[in-house]
Amino acid sequence: MTRTGAGSTGAAYALGTPSHDAFFTEVGKGTPCGELLRRYWHPVGTLADAGATPRQVRVLGEDLILFRDLQGRPGLVHPRCCHRGASLYYGRVEAEGIRCCYHGWLFDVQGNCLHQMAEPGGGARRGSFRQPWYPVAERYGLVFAYLGPPSKMPVLPRYNLLDDLDEGEFLEVNDRSLGAGGGVIVPCNWFQHFENVVDPMHAPILHGSISGVQFVPQMGILPEVKFEYSELGVIANSYRKLDNGLTLHRRTEAALPTLRVVPNPRVRNFCRTESIGWVLPIDDTHFRIYVVGRVREAGEIEAYRTRFNGKLWADMSEAEHRDFPGDWEAMVSQGPITLHSEEHLASSDRGVAMLRRFVTQQVKRVQDGLDPLGTCFDEAGALVRLTGGQYLIDADGTPVTPAAEAA
Ligand code: FES
Ligand SMILES: [Fe+2]
Repeated sequence: MTRTGAGSTGAAYALGTPSHDAFFTEVGKGTPCGELLRRYWHPVGTLADAGATPRQVRVLGEDLILFRDLQGRPGLVHPRCCHRGASLYYGRVEAEGIRCCYHGWLFDVQGNCLHQMAEPGGGARRGSFRQPWYPVAERYGLVFAYLGPPSKMPVLPRYNLLDDLDEGEFLEVNDRSLGAGGGVIVPCNWFQHFENVVDPMHAPILHGSISGVQFVPQMGILPEVKFEYSELGVIANSYRKLDNGLTLHRRTEAALPTLRVVPNPRVRNFCRTESIGWVLPIDDTHFRIYVVGRVREAGEIEAYRTRFNGKLWADMSEAEHRDFPGDWEAMVSQGPITLHSEEHLASSDRGVAMLRRFVTQQVKRVQDGLDPLGTCFDEAGALVRLTGGQYLIDADGTPVTPAAEAA
């Protein structure tokens, strides 16, 4: 405890043993949050990542092998061959599945053993062996996997923001953790980014003041913020009064399971949110982000990559990282898993507190044997409606037509 009060000197000597809250951070199998996250589909790669070359992926603390058989079916299996443990990373992808390099057992995308090269007749008992596997499905240019209990597998959701394209738009995937500021794999707990989404005050401070203008000048205006719960999480409504008398209203959402629904911070268009980011927990202390967005030109999403002191993050010197910090520096410096016992949330952290409460409630639902919000078992209900976006409104709160303002 570091809060100052009567009799407190504030000396660090008084610090207790710090701790984090496992209820919304730890992602391993059997952990409270890990079991919640295992009730949803998560992206494990782009369509191209699932190919004829086996690829190691790490998801929710589990090491897995992603591949695509030569008939085009994606598969996700445990690396350790169920015969004697050689890794299927060294396997050979064939028409029917993946064949272990050591003794040639062949497994299909559902782990069924189809052939055993060293056994007479290809293995009389091959049908009784199965390589541990997970279901996968493809949508929006990504491969999604379900790592939870089979009897609880929901349908793969669809999202209005990606299903309904305006004329001239198409979907583009970006797997470079766009929005985290730095490299592809971010070395800290996933929730540090998830709560960053509903922390709108950091935008004008970190991105608009301390480090100069990282987006556009309007984002440097301190907003008035109103938080609300949505069906799947928390929404931050930020209102910025502009010089022209209008107000910029940004509606940013963190939604289950790990969705980051943020309007373009370059305030390029006044419209519904252009993209969805999935914050994929790799393990307790690493995450990455997969983004799918509606674009009009190829490469548009990558072009939004934040510049720091005019440079891309990877091109900065150590001194520039210190002088022009972004989300990466802020989030990673909170630690591999931030120490919740040492925090002091203030009024501007209301969205963070709401999101923690919301996710904790869902963890408890799973522990109580209920289905968490946002899991649907009927294809007819698979569409998720997200309501984020950014708009200009006048003094009465009436939306101003985008075309009139853009002109
Ligand atoms: S270890 Fe895989 S076939 Fe023997
Ligand atoms: Fe940020």
